[in-house]
Amino acid sequence: MISRRMFIRSVFGAGIGVLLTGTYSRFLEPRWVELKHITIKINELPHRFEGMTIAQLSDIHHCQYVPREFVRRCVREVNALSPDIIVLTGDYVYDPYSYSASTFLLPVADELAELKAKEGVFAVLGNHDNKDRTSGALSKSGIHVLINEHIVLYRKKEYLFIAGVDDLWRGKMDLRRTLKGTDDKPKILLAHNPDAIMTIKTTGVDFVMAGHTHGGQVSLPLYGPPVVYSKFGARYAAGLFREERTMMYVNKGIGISGFPVRFCARPEITLFTLRNKRTEEVVGRI
Ligand SMILES: [Fe+2]
Repeated sequence: MISRRMFIRSVFGAGIGVLLTGTYSRFLEPRWVELKHITIKINELPHRFEGMTIAQLSDIHHCQYVPREFVRRCVREVNALSPDIIVLTGDYVYDPYSYSASTFLLPVADELAELKAKEGVFAVLGNHDNKDRTSGALSKSGIHVLINEHIVLYRKKEYLFIAGVDDLWRGKMDLRRTLKGTDDKPKILLAHNPDAIMTIKTTGVDFVMAGHTHGGQVSLPLYGPPVVYSKFGARYAAGLFREERTMMYVNKGIGISGFPVRFCARPEITLFTLRNKRTEEVVGRI
């Protein structure tokens, strides 16, 4: 039988544990940004794009819990990587409807205007974005917003495609329109919601960059995230996936939504390096 003293000690210990975990989740982990380096191998990547770098920022959710100073710090960290292009994969504020644009949207757009990439900054919208207001604010910041469209990125006479789709939940995702006019050159697609992979994988896209899940925001050791806003549960919560010939990376984002906590789901900035898959295989055999 447990003594009264042991019981009091156990309750006290548990209380301290909850307090420390709560403090860590609320104040420390949401600001503890992880920088990830990922190599993506693409079939037939043109020679001039070998080693191209892409920095991804996602799910900023600027609000009272994700302050402007934190967004500024993340922008500086991205610029310090000197990427060739920068991509933003949606959800720039938490609540696009209850506040005027000057409260959160315009300030976050002003911070994002400081992003510097040699060949452009590209963005798609998420389910927390207002199509007209958000795309207008981002465009004024010099960011190319892709809503069911693509651009051709040239290096001399070689090229690849950078495309972006409207959000799967809030917008009208139209892959046919997005990829109309593309040929067999590599296609990189921005899509806020990773659930879109089920449609995208049939279209010949090489690499998808997504966000939306926040890695669940709370992930339990040995269990994973109990809640992920996806019809596939935790399947695409975070990380690199392959579906048929399409690779997809799901970024945990830097902001928070719902409860203002993160636990075992650190905010992240990701830097991708593109490599030609065939060249890599030949080098590997030698
Ligand atoms: Fe989000």
